[in-house]
Amino acid sequence: MAKAAVLHRYGGPLSIEEVDVAAPKRGEVKVKLKAAGLCHSDWHVIDGTLPLPLPIVLGHEGAGIVEEVGEGVTSVKRGDHVVLNWVPACSRCRYCRIGRPDLCEQAARLTSSGTMPDGTTRFSWQGKPVHQFLTAGAFSEYTVVPEQAAIPIRRDVPFELAALIGCSVITGVGAAIHTAQVRPGSTVAVIGAGGVGFNIIQGAALAGAKQIIAVDMIEEKLAMTKTFGATHTVNVEKDDAVDAVLDLTDGLGVDYAFEAIGRPETMADAYNMTRKGGMTVIVGIAAPHETVEINAFSLPSQSKMLTGSWLGQGNPPVDYPKLLDLYAAGKLKLEPLISAVYSLEQINDGFAALKSGQTIRGIIRF
Ligand code: APR
Ligand code: ZN
Repeated sequence: MAKAAVLHRYGGPLSIEEVDVAAPKRGEVKVKLKAAGLCHSDWHVIDGTLPLPLPIVLGHEGAGIVEEVGEGVTSVKRGDHVVLNWVPACSRCRYCRIGRPDLCEQAARLTSSGTMPDGTTRFSWQGKPVHQFLTAGAFSEYTVVPEQAAIPIRRDVPFELAALIGCSVITGVGAAIHTAQVRPGSTVAVIGAGGVGFNIIQGAALAGAKQIIAVDMIEEKLAMTKTFGATHTVNVEKDDAVDAVLDLTDGLGVDYAFEAIGRPETMADAYNMTRKGGMTVIVGIAAPHETVEINAFSLPSQSKMLTGSWLGQGNPPVDYPKLLDLYAAGKLKLEPLISAVYSLEQINDGFAALKSGQTIRGIIRF
């Protein structure tokens, strides 16, 4: 048995239930969660933007301790500290074979099924199966995940900070470093200063960008982006995002523009504030039916690169340890990303704060 936050119907709230957690099967790992971040992707499921089978245990940015391993597990053992990986790559599909585990076909199927690779779930409540978001199901005292979803990490980083690596940090820093490959001396704009946006900013700063423009609607958060490397801020309550970025770049636009909200309008803004030949990277997740309006003539005549980034185009078994080493070396900021710590029982308050846009990251401490 474990206490878990279960989504029974769209719109929420999440209810705290005692769920049954089955033992890990072959190739699976049971994890005792110590910390889990509240991410806008979880909220996308609650509000129905990302429709998934219910009931479901959400949460995918988690860290904890290996409690038990199933037969055949070799990469972790009981007692190891792990960060959950919400894209557990199969290493066999055509994307894994070409070195793009972020696009793994099996992991993509799991994103919409809310199950383990064998199609079943390890959570149940009142005798009925309960789904697990991105296999992780991190809003639970215990979870069972595929071995590939439990990445062993160094033991000297507090769980709350380690958890952040699992989504907002790899997604944000990875979008800047892997997807955009931001070059030293370049100009960058980031629309949306949330958990992901702050990490795009610090990734761009790590890569040596000379100008980083943060765009949001909340002044306090915009002010904080400066400590992560932003050089300028634009408050969309006062100024038009595209006009303001063009003004700040002598009318050219930025070399790289990132969207980290998940709205078609701000995705178009990101494209429109990118300079000719520059790159627009979409990180925010919109609902599956939405489309983005972009001027057709500009596509050839301005020759911008328009791309997306999923999991920061990363490879968690390699990237999580690297990112934690960067933190330990003082090069990556994690503490200031946490705005509030909640108990599992307070999770709905945490999501209310996330929705208001006031927090960077809220964290559940188990
Ligand atoms: N213009 C500018 N900023 C906005 C706007 C807008 N129209 N609407 C929302 N924002 C800001 C909010 O104020 C907030 O600071 O966007 C930010 C979003 O941050 P979070 O809610 O913390 O979202 P986050 O968890 O960072 O995820 C961002 O990336 O991975 C995806 O699914 C995720 O689509 C989501 C996006
Ligand atoms: Zn996330």
